[in-house]
Amino acid sequence: MVSTNVTRQDSAVSRLDRERLQRHRGAVLWLTGLSGAGKSTLANAVEARLHALGCRTFLLDGDNVRSGLCGDLGFSLADRHENIRRVGEAARLFLDAGVIVLCAFISPLKEDRQRARALAPDGDFVEIYCKSPLAVCERRDVKGLYRRARAGEIADFTGITSPYEEPDNPELVLDTARRSVDECADAVVARLVAQGTVP
Ligand code: PPS
Ligand code: ADP
Repeated sequence: MVSTNVTRQDSAVSRLDRERLQRHRGAVLWLTGLSGAGKSTLANAVEARLHALGCRTFLLDGDNVRSGLCGDLGFSLADRHENIRRVGEAARLFLDAGVIVLCAFISPLKEDRQRARALAPDGDFVEIYCKSPLAVCERRDVKGLYRRARAGEIADFTGITSPYEEPDNPELVLDTARRSVDECADAVVARLVAQGTVP
C-alpha cells in the first residue's frame, strides 16, 4: 500500500551506520500464540535480559498497541490483518533504527505474519511460536477473557470462535506449557547469540 504522489526520501545515515555505534544488530522478534500462551511474559523476560546485556530494545505488545496506534481496531479477521500490518511497519522502523524490537501479538493468520516477515531483510525476522494447548491457556485465564468468551460475552475469540493458524516453520518453538519462563527466555537469547545478532 503506497499513497499517491509521494517520493521516497533516503536518509544520510544508514541502518549500518547506526549499528556501528553499538555492539549488536537490530532484529524483529515476533512472538505469536494463543491468548495466555505466554507472549507478554516471555517478551518482557527476554527484553530484560537483552537490556542487561547492553542492547537497545523496544517492546510492542498487543494490549498496549491497541490502546494507541491500533485503538480503532477490533478483532474481526480484517481488523487483525490491519493490526498486524501496522505493527509490521512499526517493527520495520525500529529495525532500521538498529533496535531489537519485540512484537507480542496473537497474529493468528500465517499470511499476516508472512507479510510482516517480508518487510525485514533475510535473517532479521525471528518468528517465535509460544506453543501452549488451548486447554492450558484456558486454565490459566490470566485476564478472565476465556470464561467470558465461553459465556458468549466476547465474540471472535481466538481459539474459540476465531481461528489460530500454527506457524509452519518458525525460527523457534517454545513449549510454554511445560518449560519455565527462564528456560524459554534463555532459548531466545541463545538463538540471537548463535545467529550473530547479539555478541
Ligand atoms: S491480534 O489477533 O494479533 O490482532 O491480537 P492482539 O493485537 O495481539 O491482541 C490480543 C489481546 O487482546 C485481548 N482480546 C482478545 N484476544 C483475542 N480475541 C479476542 N476477541 C479478544 N478481545 C480482547 C487479549 O487481552 C489479547 O491479549 P493476549 O496478551 O494475547 O492475552
Ligand atoms: P499472552 O501474552 O500470550 O496472553 P501472558 O504472558 O499474559 O500470555 O500469560 C501467560 C501466563 O503463563 C503467565 O501467567 C505466565 O506466568 C505463565 N507461564 C508459565 N510458563 C510460562 C512460560 N514458559 N512462558 C511464558 N509464560 C508462562
